[in-house]
Amino acid sequence: MAKYNFLNPFKLENKGITLKNRVVIPPMTERMAMEDGTVSKDELDYYQQRAGQAGMFISAVANVNPLGKGFEGELSIADDKFVPRLSELAAAMKTGGSKAIIQIFSAGRMSSSAILRGEQPISASAIAAPRPGHETPRALEEVEVLQTIKDFGEATRRAIEAGFDGVEIHGANTYLIQQFFSPHSNRRDDSWGGSVEKRMKFPLAVIDAVQDAIDKYSTAPFILGYRLSPEELEEPGITLADTMKLIDALKQKPLDYLHVSQNDVWRTSIRNHEDKRIINSLIKKQVAGAFPIIVVGSLATPKQVEKAAEDYDLLAIGHEMIWEPKWVSKVANGDEDSIRYSINKSELADLNIQPSFLGMIEMVSGGPQGVPLTGNQKE
Ligand SMILES: Cc1cc2nc3c(=O)[nH]c(=O)nc-3n(C[C@H](O)[C@H](O)[C@H](O)COP(=O)(O)O)c2cc1C
Repeated sequence: MAKYNFLNPFKLENKGITLKNRVVIPPMTERMAMEDGTVSKDELDYYQQRAGQAGMFISAVANVNPLGKGFEGELSIADDKFVPRLSELAAAMKTGGSKAIIQIFSAGRMSSSAILRGEQPISASAIAAPRPGHETPRALEEVEVLQTIKDFGEATRRAIEAGFDGVEIHGANTYLIQQFFSPHSNRRDDSWGGSVEKRMKFPLAVIDAVQDAIDKYSTAPFILGYRLSPEELEEPGITLADTMKLIDALKQKPLDYLHVSQNDVWRTSIRNHEDKRIINSLIKKQVAGAFPIIVVGSLATPKQVEKAAEDYDLLAIGHEMIWEPKWVSKVANGDEDSIRYSINKSELADLNIQPSFLGMIEMVSGGPQGVPLTGNQKE
């Protein structure tokens, strides 16, 4: 019996796949791919160093088509030419028994004409993200909507060919799938926009295309996950009530897990500060056991992870896995005192963190003060 419950195996019942423990490494874009999105040697080193620890290891996001690119140095799964190097990535991530999942997306309006080399970013509607410097995208034509859905299916075929154990559909963090679900970015008056039911048509069609590809190309059980952000701040924006409706629809799909993207596992509503209920608990109640839930956000110490494990199925550890590649083995071997909760700049190279990745971490964490390059966080 392991000292911590989160170290025990966990079965994804829908596929009969057993994860070696309940720890997940969540998707983290490292901006270390080659200019065209090919997996780089730097990435292989970074993933290899963290393999064999978590039960499930989710890659940085990969774009499903060229207009879906959102970052310089982003992975791509938009063409068959990427498959050989993606196979090396899958093999590196699977070392030591982690299940390797690749996250797939289109950035939609969160991209820029600079990243797209002169092309205008796309979205559900021609509405710019209400953030400084964001360009007004163009609305996808219906034929392009249908092609984008097919591109998710093709990306899944490539993920299977490359030897991944599954894909995670990135329906969170304000990217294209969320843009279709959001009443802020989706003002369409065709069948892809309007009521909450119409706004969820695109996410559900993407899931169907991915599942069709799994049925057609996979010869072994292949994991299908979906990531969502429960709310957005925009007005109008996605509300918890909208998300509960989406979850009801997701329960009709053959998902193996739902990944709730938040920066704090215990977060309450960002739209209604009077509401003190924990969002993950509300989601768990709505899911009602249809599939496991991955929770994420500010988990770093074994104690924090164990507390989350009392209430939730799978526990994702992001930033901390960047600083401490051997977190799970150290906990399992009773070597908790040597877990690093901060790093010095001199360790960046040993941890396979290239400057472009450090820049991304600083951007995501709200600036350099978010990067614990000194000091020691124990609890
Ligand atoms: C550098 C960095 C890159 C990220 N890239 C992605 C991404 O590609 N896809 C995604 O869904 N979330 C991404 N995230 C969010 C993480 O998956 C995770 O939800 C977040 O870091 C909160 O978990 P933590 O507090 O344990 O770090 C990223 C986070 C960081 C720090």
